[in-house]
Amino acid sequence: MCGIIGYVGKKKSALSFIVEGLKCLEYRGYDSAGIAYVDDENIKIVKSEGQISNLETKLNMNVESSIGIGHTRWATHGIPNEINSHPHRSGSITLVHNGIIENYMEIKDELGKEGKKFLSDTDSEVAACLIDSLFEKTKDMKEAILLFKKKVKGSYAIALMVDEDTSKIYVIKNLSPLIIGLGSDENFIASDVPAILKWTKQYVTLSDGEFAIVDDKNIDLYDIDGVEKEVLVKTFSGDASSIDKGEYEHFMLKEIHEEPEVIKTLISEYLMEDNLSSLPNLRNYKNVTIVACGSAYHAGLVGKHFIENNLDIPVSVELASEFKYKKLFINDEDVVIAISQSGETADTLAAVKIAKSLKAHTIGIVNVKESSIAREVDEVIYTLAGSEIAVATTKAYLSQIVLLLLISIQDMNLVEWKKELSSLPVKIEKLINEENLYKKIASEVKDRDDIFFIGRQIDYAICLEGSLKLKEISYIHSEAYAAGELKHGTISLISQDTPVFAVITDEIIAEKTISNIKEVKSRGARIFLVISEDIYIPEEVYDFVVVIPNALKSIVSIMSVIPLQMISYEVAKLRGCSIDKPRNLAKSVTVE
Ligand code: AGP
Repeated sequence: MCGIIGYVGKKKSALSFIVEGLKCLEYRGYDSAGIAYVDDENIKIVKSEGQISNLETKLNMNVESSIGIGHTRWATHGIPNEINSHPHRSGSITLVHNGIIENYMEIKDELGKEGKKFLSDTDSEVAACLIDSLFEKTKDMKEAILLFKKKVKGSYAIALMVDEDTSKIYVIKNLSPLIIGLGSDENFIASDVPAILKWTKQYVTLSDGEFAIVDDKNIDLYDIDGVEKEVLVKTFSGDASSIDKGEYEHFMLKEIHEEPEVIKTLISEYLMEDNLSSLPNLRNYKNVTIVACGSAYHAGLVGKHFIENNLDIPVSVELASEFKYKKLFINDEDVVIAISQSGETADTLAAVKIAKSLKAHTIGIVNVKESSIAREVDEVIYTLAGSEIAVATTKAYLSQIVLLLLISIQDMNLVEWKKELSSLPVKIEKLINEENLYKKIASEVKDRDDIFFIGRQIDYAICLEGSLKLKEISYIHSEAYAAGELKHGTISLISQDTPVFAVITDEIIAEKTISNIKEVKSRGARIFLVISEDIYIPEEVYDFVVVIPNALKSIVSIMSVIPLQMISYEVAKLRGCSIDKPRNLAKSVTVE
């Protein structure tokens, strides 16, 4: 979602830095972009709808500027156009904003009565106008920021410049991600760490309600009450090289190909080093609740099966966006596990805060180090999947389900698990390499309007992910159903040649799912089967088959998502879709 980048210093061209930084933030999803920079003591603004390349054609890159802020916008208030894109300017304030000001209409009315005028439909312009009005009254930026924070409700990461002193960038953070990167005689502002890794690995995080004043030499950090506090510098320890597509046509394909390596890393970190005891023991808690959104929620559903079957304890899995509004029966004897690749998903972060307020122990299964959720939870487990750039998650989802499996097998006999999990990377690699089969299946379904996925139990959880993957990148309507539910309504949608993907990895429920496959087949459906090698199914029941190699049941389930990821990729490719950045979607969903 919206990305913020900023530069102050004389060592680089602010314009070049910001354009490059905006490109690093592209993966978060955006529909317009803009820059404000200082040229000859004056703040200039250039904005453009659509791609960053549109913005570049409008910029004079020869301008020597030493300070500026940039923004990629993902529309929330007002359509994606140039006027609504950032930076916004009001009086002497120029700002970029990520988040949502919830009470902006009320504030807009009040400011309107003061005679203030607005050009855009955005809450962000209202924020600029409010800060300007407060600065006019107080003549002091720190004072204005404190009053602004008191007045606004909602989430915001803001970077702003003020006409009266163009050597500084002010940053304010509440519930939206923002970091400050440290250079020598230069400093950087960004929504996330990967955007600045090319220049520095040292950064400072702001807690909610804090603000900072940044120039080329100093970072003055202020707590929620405006009292200056010590700046704690962190060092990023991850791998910056993964933010490159390399030989692959798309990040999504690269990330799928990285899956064997991700599994190897997880196994050697937690299993081979006998480090399983460093993972949480869920038996210590009365109730286990998993909260997450999208694919991470689907990972939670898979994890529920692992934990319930292997540890014999019940697990509830909740959509984070619903969790916040429902009656909760959680207390200090319980654990709440938040799963999030980005660690920035606003709904999941809010759910963690609620769980903490109810005194539950909170655990984060997070990919991005030092992200908001990683910092908020009582205990964080990193999924070690490396940077994931494609909006559609693949390797991070896989790492989440493998980690949930590892959590669930702690007190089992590990000899067999070690053997089975060690051979998983090779098996996954083989599955990924069945490219021709996936291409063939993709060409069979690419022109269909509706595609269905069916499975039971854990296979249903895998189907939910397969269906989401397909629809988010290929724009084909698709739904996943618990196979037994079809005849309660959905089967009326099955007609001649309707594609139905069926997943069967569990022998115990295989016969029942096969019956459901026959029901749709006899109504004309074309069946694309993903099935474990050791389950027998008569040939006349399906049209295409992907066979998952023999392994322990949970491991077969994990593998079964690979063909679904690959088929989604191939379908989207045949349809000419924007695979890494699907329309309307963002990698980090930082608004609720
Ligand atoms: C997955 O392909 C999606 N793009 C999306 O559902 C994602 O999983 C969801 O937004 C949660 O993100 P998170 O893991 O970063 O919290």
